[in-house]
Amino acid sequence: EFQNRLFSGVQPSGDLHLGNYLGAIRRFAPMQEQFDCIFCVVDMHAITVWQEPEVLRHKIREIAATYMATGVDPKKSIIFNQSQVLQHAELAWVFNCVARIGWMNRMTQFKDKAGKNRENASLGLYAYPSLMAADILLYRGTHVPVGDDQKQHLELTRDIAQKFNNDFKKQIIEEGFESGEFFPLTEPLISGPAMRIMSLRDGSKKMSKSDPSEMACLGLMDSADEIAKKLRKAKTDPEPLPSELDGLAERPEARNLVEIYAALANISSEDVLKEYGGQGFGAFKPALAELAVEKLAPISEETKRMLADPAEVDNILRDGADRAREIAEETMKHVRQIIGF
Ligand code: ADP
Ligand code: NA
Repeated sequence: EFQNRLFSGVQPSGDLHLGNYLGAIRRFAPMQEQFDCIFCVVDMHAITVWQEPEVLRHKIREIAATYMATGVDPKKSIIFNQSQVLQHAELAWVFNCVARIGWMNRMTQFKDKAGKNRENASLGLYAYPSLMAADILLYRGTHVPVGDDQKQHLELTRDIAQKFNNDFKKQIIEEGFESGEFFPLTEPLISGPAMRIMSLRDGSKKMSKSDPSEMACLGLMDSADEIAKKLRKAKTDPEPLPSELDGLAERPEARNLVEIYAALANISSEDVLKEYGGQGFGAFKPALAELAVEKLAPISEETKRMLADPAEVDNILRDGADRAREIAEETMKHVRQIIGF
C-alpha cells in the first residue's frame, strides 16, 4: 500500500501570478493537514526555456518564500528546489525510455509553449512531462494538486507508472513488492472554483508566466496600483454583467473576472452575479481590484520580509533537499535494481 503523499511544484520561470496562486499555491497549506507534503521549486523545468541565471537564482528563493508566506510550514512539509536532488534527472532519463514518442506528441502544452517554430524548441521542453512524472513518482506521490492545465501531464504520469509496473512486473515482485505495483497511479486533486484563470488580455489563453504581455497576468508581487491598473485595462466587453451564469457563456473575459472574484472571495460565481449583475465593469473592476489587493498584499509583504534574509531561505531549501534526497535515493535504489543496473 502507498502512503498518502502529495507532491506539487511551481517553475521559477517568471513572476508568480494569480493563476499559480488560485490554481495551486493557495491550496498547499491546507493539504498539510491531510498529507505528507513535498513542495518543490521546479528549476529544472524552468530551464526548458531560456532563463537569465541571476534572475533564476532569485526566483527560486522567491517561490520558496511565497510557499511559506501562504502558510506552508517547512517543519511539517518538505520545501526544496529540484536541481538539488539529482535523482530527479536520473529517474527522468529512465522515464524517457519508458514513455513513447507518440504519447509526447499528444501533449498540448508543448504545442502551446513551442509555438510556431517547433523545430527550435528545446528537447527539454518536449520531454518536460517525463521529468514531471519523475518529480512525482520519485516520492511515489499518490496525490497532486494541479490546475486544470496540468491534467494531461498527470494522465501521462499515470501512463508511465503503469507501463513501468507492467514492463518490470517480474523484477518488481522479486524486489519485494508483492502486488507488482512499484509506482502508484497518482490522483489529481482538481477542485474548487477558478481552476483555470485566463489572461487579462485574451480570454482564450490561460494566464501564464511565459506570456510576453506585461498586462496578461496579475502578479503576486504586484503593488496595489499595478493591480488596479491591470484590472482597469483588462479586456472586457461593453455590456453590463448578467445576473445569471448563462449570460457569461459567450463572454470569456467577463466570465474570467467573475470567476477570479468568486475564487478570491470564496463564494460562488452565482453569488458574485447576484451582487454585481446589471452593473458595468466601471463598478466591478475597482471592486475586484480592492478584493485582490486585500487578499494578495499580506502574501507579498510576508514574501518580501523573508527575502530580506536570503541565507535563511537557502538554509530552508538545503534542509528540505536533504530530506527529499533521502526518500528519492530509497526509490532509486529499487529502480536501479529493477531495471538491471
Ligand atoms: P506557468 O504556466 O505560469 O508557468 P506553472 O507551469 O509553473 O505555471 O504552474 C504552476 C502551477 O500553477 C501548476 O499547478 C499549474 O496547474 C498552476 N497554474 C498555472 N497557470 C494557471 C492558470 N492560469 N490557472 C490555474 N492554475 C494555473
Ligand atoms: Na504550466
